[in-house]
Amino acid sequence: EMDPVERAFQERIDAGQKIEPKEWMPEGYRKTLVRQISQHAHSEIVGQLPEGNWITRAPTLERKAILLAKVQDEAGHGLYLYCAAETLGISRDEMYAQLHSGKAKYSSIFNYPTLTWADIGAIGWLVDGAAIMNQVPLQRCSYGPYARAMVRICKEESFHQRQGYDVLMKMVKGTPAQKAMVQDALNRWWWPSLMMFGPSDDASVHSAQSMAWKIKQNSNDELRQKFVDQTVPQAKYLGLTVPDPDLKWNEEKGGYDFGEPDWEEFFNVIAGNGPCNAERLNARKKAWDDGAWFRDGLTAHAEKVSDRRTA
Ligand code: ACO
Repeated sequence: EMDPVERAFQERIDAGQKIEPKEWMPEGYRKTLVRQISQHAHSEIVGQLPEGNWITRAPTLERKAILLAKVQDEAGHGLYLYCAAETLGISRDEMYAQLHSGKAKYSSIFNYPTLTWADIGAIGWLVDGAAIMNQVPLQRCSYGPYARAMVRICKEESFHQRQGYDVLMKMVKGTPAQKAMVQDALNRWWWPSLMMFGPSDDASVHSAQSMAWKIKQNSNDELRQKFVDQTVPQAKYLGLTVPDPDLKWNEEKGGYDFGEPDWEEFFNVIAGNGPCNAERLNARKKAWDDGAWFRDGLTAHAEKVSDRRTA
């Protein structure tokens, strides 16, 4: 039997009301949100690294300016999301500590390397395309601060997606070597992009409860299907081949049938053993350590000001 306070909470959720920071909420609801929002924030912050790798090597000044703006947007998304998580009573320092210790996850996708300029296009097209598919419904999340943070983030993500597609449009119209580079990027990024939506529904431990609380609106497999249906025609338009021999239009369901991602690879990457996990985490830890002098300075300054006030 559900306790009456909890039942009243669920009724508010069912009625489509937003839950705000200072209102009562079940401990599990709070914990789920802290987990998801902080992981989402970490993903934005770590997500700057694979693309940051190409800022100094962008092919033109215009491409460099665009990429810089995009990476800065991701820093902004991370900061918004940390703020949203802080409204649930966790501090930013605690969240960073959880990232650095490996307790908090970040998206599997950012543990793959960016080998060529075409990877920058593929990330915008596929990775940001998948992020939009996942985040548009999060604008209707039951937790107010998370839902509202998503509005601006989704607008910026759609710019990111279009810039990626534009990079690839240019390259597929270039030399045969450039077009081959784009196909190679699609071959490497396709399956990891499908993994961004999380494990299949039968292996997704959190989905049922998160959907009952309207933290998630759709299951992992539902969003993965929508992403495939949206993206395959875009690949065709670019003149590319999606690296999935099982991909086939299914008239009856009005969508594509497609192969299973390699779930062993997925679980291996989220356990910390992907191609770039150690490199990504070390970069974040180094940034934290390199910032120590600044945090110490701020604290010393704050103490001096407060001493002066009390003197
Ligand atoms: N990468 C890393 N970890 C993942 C991924 C992934 N692609 N997918 C699932 N997981 C983890 C979950 O966090 C969970 O682990 P935990 O219990 O340690 O937190 C475990 O795998 C089981 O998965 P689910 O039960 O399906 O977890 P959940 O209901 O949280 O669904 C999802 C996962 C879809 C990623 C959800 O958390 C979500 O929508 N998050 C917000 C969006 C987001 O984080 N996007 C970041 C990438 S894109 C970007 O922002 C640029």
